[in-house]
Amino acid sequence: MNDRLDAYWMPYTPNRQFKAAPRIVVSAKGVAYRTADGREVLDGISGLWCVGAGHGHPRIAEAIKRQVDTLDFVSSFQVGHPGAFALSERIAALAPPGLDRVFLTNSGSEAVDTAIKIALAHARACGQGQRTLLIGRERAFHGVGFGGMSVGGMVNNRRAFGPVLMRSDHLRSTWDPATQAFVRGQPAEGGIALADELERLVALHDASNIAAVLVEPFAGSTGVLVPPVGYLQRLRQICDRHRLLLIFDEVISGFGRLGSMFAAQALGVVPDMIVFAKTVSNGAAPLGGVIVRRELHDAVMQGPDHLAELMHGYTWSGHPLACAAGMATLDVLEEERLLQRVAELAPQFESIVHALADAPGVVSIRNLGLAAGVELAPDPAGPGRRGARAQAAAFDRGVLTRAPGDTLILAPPFVSTRDDIQRMADALRQAIVDTASPAP
Ligand SMILES: Cc1ncc(COP(=O)(O)O)c(C=O)c1O
Repeated sequence: MNDRLDAYWMPYTPNRQFKAAPRIVVSAKGVAYRTADGREVLDGISGLWCVGAGHGHPRIAEAIKRQVDTLDFVSSFQVGHPGAFALSERIAALAPPGLDRVFLTNSGSEAVDTAIKIALAHARACGQGQRTLLIGRERAFHGVGFGGMSVGGMVNNRRAFGPVLMRSDHLRSTWDPATQAFVRGQPAEGGIALADELERLVALHDASNIAAVLVEPFAGSTGVLVPPVGYLQRLRQICDRHRLLLIFDEVISGFGRLGSMFAAQALGVVPDMIVFAKTVSNGAAPLGGVIVRRELHDAVMQGPDHLAELMHGYTWSGHPLACAAGMATLDVLEEERLLQRVAELAPQFESIVHALADAPGVVSIRNLGLAAGVELAPDPAGPGRRGARAQAAAFDRGVLTRAPGDTLILAPPFVSTRDDIQRMADALRQAIVDTASPAP
């Protein structure tokens, strides 16, 4: 068996370790996977923050099957199909007012790089081509394209590629272990001071050189780091003061995770672009995109009329199967009132997750909407080791989690019941207990 695993170079996986002890999943339904050895494993991270409506949703599966029988593929270069236009119109209607032009991609990474290109193209179209600097934030994840890596703030993702990254600078992370260790929801204090650091970066680089400020409304992949109240509002004010574009990377927060369509609405701040992916197609087909403020789009609509205004796009931009999955997902979110369900579940989720505070070695718990991070004291041998062991132990105990560093993520599907969430937390507790002593 192990030989047959060799060819596949797995993404974001310690390949040698995995192939020595493989965890193979063969099917999924609702909130659970079935493993090759017949065990049920609860999906504690909605696939990878994407399966809000639960696995194998018949409505979404049917839509994809119908589409493949009708029109499997047509390029979106110079021709079009109804699904891409309909999906874009629908997403535009769900976005905050003013953001109503949609560029479709196949992933979050492509969507981030697309947003950066739109910012650069917009600056150039306005005669300000010197605006090339990106402002991101430490401990941000914006995917793995060169733009996203540059503006992202994760040292492990940047280390090997540093010399070829785009010019960028970074705000401090909003995470403060001294004051936020067991805060529920948004911390009350410190938001303004953290955001005011943008003024310092603007003074250092000059606004005229900055292409955009790009942040996740809350940092998901690096362990659920929730910004204090007022932080995003202040970033918006500073961007307005200096005429900087503000881009929200809502790859995780978009389409329901906070109980609203976008975090922009849940947290009351409207950016100039919203980057999305993941839940938009419930994980059933690769789909992402950027929702763009109309004036930005209109400013780029220039040049000779036989040439594309934005020299950018992917073979699978607007793929018919992805668009069908996206439309069906939006139907399901609406008809099954899943956003309301998230809003109702969130306080119960918060209580269940924070009850893990007395498990051995838990040093912090953070949460927002249906997202939480449970941080463990690191193994004396070094950071990340306990997290990795706890992640593997959690799978054995019956829940899929993910461990950036020593933080275990819980981000259940929106269709989870209170009981499902309790079972996920119980399995997580067992994994925490299993790994309480350092590895031999
Ligand atoms: C905030 C954020 N942006 C971008 C990405 C990259 O998305 P993808 O893996 O679809 O390229 C992710 C993935 O987790 C993400 O969390």
